[in-house]
Amino acid sequence: APDIDVKAVKADLDQLQTIADGHGGNRAHGQPGYRASLDYIKGKLDAAGFKTGVQEFTSGGAKGYNLVADWPGGSADKVLMAGSHLDSVEAGPGINDNGSGSAAILEVALAVAKADLKPTKHLRFAWWGDEEDGMIGSTHYVDSLKSDEKSKIDSYLNFDMLGSPNPGYFVYDDDPELEKVFKDWYAAKDIATEKETEGDGRSDHAPFKDAGVRVGGLFTGAESTKSQAQADQWGGKAGEPFDPCYHSACDKTSNVDDTALDRNTDAIAHAVWELSS
Ligand code: PHE
Ligand code: CA
Ligand code: ZN
Ligand code: ZN
Ligand code: ZN
Repeated sequence: APDIDVKAVKADLDQLQTIADGHGGNRAHGQPGYRASLDYIKGKLDAAGFKTGVQEFTSGGAKGYNLVADWPGGSADKVLMAGSHLDSVEAGPGINDNGSGSAAILEVALAVAKADLKPTKHLRFAWWGDEEDGMIGSTHYVDSLKSDEKSKIDSYLNFDMLGSPNPGYFVYDDDPELEKVFKDWYAAKDIATEKETEGDGRSDHAPFKDAGVRVGGLFTGAESTKSQAQADQWGGKAGEPFDPCYHSACDKTSNVDDTALDRNTDAIAHAVWELSS
């Protein structure tokens, strides 16, 4: 897999910040900054040759949108999916939560196009609407699939909060094979990882898991506190939250750890290449 330039991921985060700044300070479901975020991501994917679609749903009296992007080719009955929620809370611009995952999978998707990857499996990327009100967009997507379409999803990989400023390196432990693909990448770089436990059932992998799809993913921590043992292995500040700006107005571009964002984006590229081959 290629090494993804973290500068490209950060340039996307700058764009999402500019969108929030121009639309009342957030990119929340039902607010204009959400749709502007989706249009930004969609424009890049369309230009790169992805087949994109926007799935609409209604939540809390407002229209919501999922963006789904298919890379043409691969076996239609073995689909590898990677997804991130694109909405923020209303309190802030949502750059770590979850501009970080959204930009990371965008740059991995663009790298797939650049490499003109011809994977054995079919590759599909998704940006979910209205995660923050209870995984509404991803649940709508899973519910919209017929049972044979569900059974064709080989795996779903979820990326929510990849650049927490006091980062931990957490790997979803829901499926041993998917967990191993990520753990091996970090181990080769001598970076310690821990099993992800803070997020069980708390992000867009949950509806896939409930539907019987195997799931995996990465996470750098939200409002819970980094222990001394975790600070010893990862650096950063013990006794402080992984993300002190979680769901706050200060979740801006300054609220991202570049090293964590870089490593996690490269780890996603590794997993996408490996698991789709
Ligand atoms: N889904 C949570 C949010 O968007 C964040 C989170 C992700 C928390 C993963 C725990 C684990 O607010
Ligand atoms: Ca990189
Ligand atoms: Zn606008
Ligand atoms: Zn959130
Ligand atoms: Zn989130």
